[in-house]
Amino acid sequence: MRPKVLKVDPLNVDRQMLKQAVEVIHNRGLVAFPTETVYGLGANALEPKAVAGIFEAKKRPLDDPLIVHISKIEDLSRIVDKIPLKAHRLIERFWPGPLTLVLKKTSLVPDIVTTGLDTVAVRMPSNSIARDLIELAGVPIAAPSANLFGRPSPTKAKHVVNDLEGRIDLVLDGGPTEIGIESTVVELLGNKTIILRPGGTDLEVIKELVGEVEVYKGPEEEARSPGKYPQHYSPQALVTIVEEGPHQAEEVIRKAEELKEEGKEVGIMAKQEHEDLFKDYRYKVLGPALEARTCASRLFHVLREFDEDKVDVIVSEGIAEEGIGLAVMNRLKKAAGPAEF
Ligand code: TXA
Ligand code: MG
Repeated sequence: MRPKVLKVDPLNVDRQMLKQAVEVIHNRGLVAFPTETVYGLGANALEPKAVAGIFEAKKRPLDDPLIVHISKIEDLSRIVDKIPLKAHRLIERFWPGPLTLVLKKTSLVPDIVTTGLDTVAVRMPSNSIARDLIELAGVPIAAPSANLFGRPSPTKAKHVVNDLEGRIDLVLDGGPTEIGIESTVVELLGNKTIILRPGGTDLEVIKELVGEVEVYKGPEEEARSPGKYPQHYSPQALVTIVEEGPHQAEEVIRKAEELKEEGKEVGIMAKQEHEDLFKDYRYKVLGPALEARTCASRLFHVLREFDEDKVDVIVSEGIAEEGIGLAVMNRLKKAAGPAEF
């Protein structure tokens, strides 16, 4: 069954309409809603049964913890035990916005949300629909990205419907999300600041505020939650990356030719600057390499478009790992799978 889809204007949120979503949340149901990063699949974070529904709908492994979303600072002390000074600094600078903090949890947070960890991931989204929904519901909302586990995250309501049709109650359609890539996840325990996942908040600015940070490198190191599943954000097609360099476009064409010879249907994900060089091929533009923000906002959308075209392999040009470009390349490498690391 198609979930009910309600169109909501983020610039003028109809709170009466949101009441339908609040009712679903209060009845332990599942509501997909836009955030500034990607669409989330929300349930009452304080109700273990409701949260179990999220894992089931997404087919998400039960050892992959969820982010709890709040609408105001005062809600933080209900779910988080200690707020270190560094966390205060980051919160002041980046909330509401695409930054998730992993902190010690209170006993109010059910184990299923954190998969038994004694820490909880929290964020305050800036999207007005998300904020109003959480505020009206009066409870923190647990929400992973609203995709099937392992698929590219949804940046449009239609991506949610495509993945979760028949599995959730309601979708709030607030149009395409602004950033297009998930939040930066930062763990703050003891004196250490660890970037668990690069994302919408620039790592360099985090460093300026808190000093030294460690960047979690992936599954080779002791498994922390986010890197545990290397094949992630994947379209149906295989993805292969050609990193930036003096002969990047030539190398893309060489690979595309080789794959075509093997009988593969090939799609090229191109930097806008190279578009003209790929005219004889099936290609889509990721964005201008010098505008990583645009690339971020288009990445998941373009990966899903290639799936609709049923290509077998996507040959993608890499961009510089600077600013949000770091997060773009992180997702692209995960889509490509471990062989590319
Ligand atoms: O932008 C976003 O963060 C979106 C929107 C909807 O807010 N949400 C999102 O959620 O991307 P999800 O579940 O797809 O990713 C949450 C990440 C996972 O990598 C998970 O392992 C990590 O946060 N995480 C959650 N709780 C954690 C914890 N206690 N310790 C370490 N990592 C945690
Ligand atoms: Mg996700």
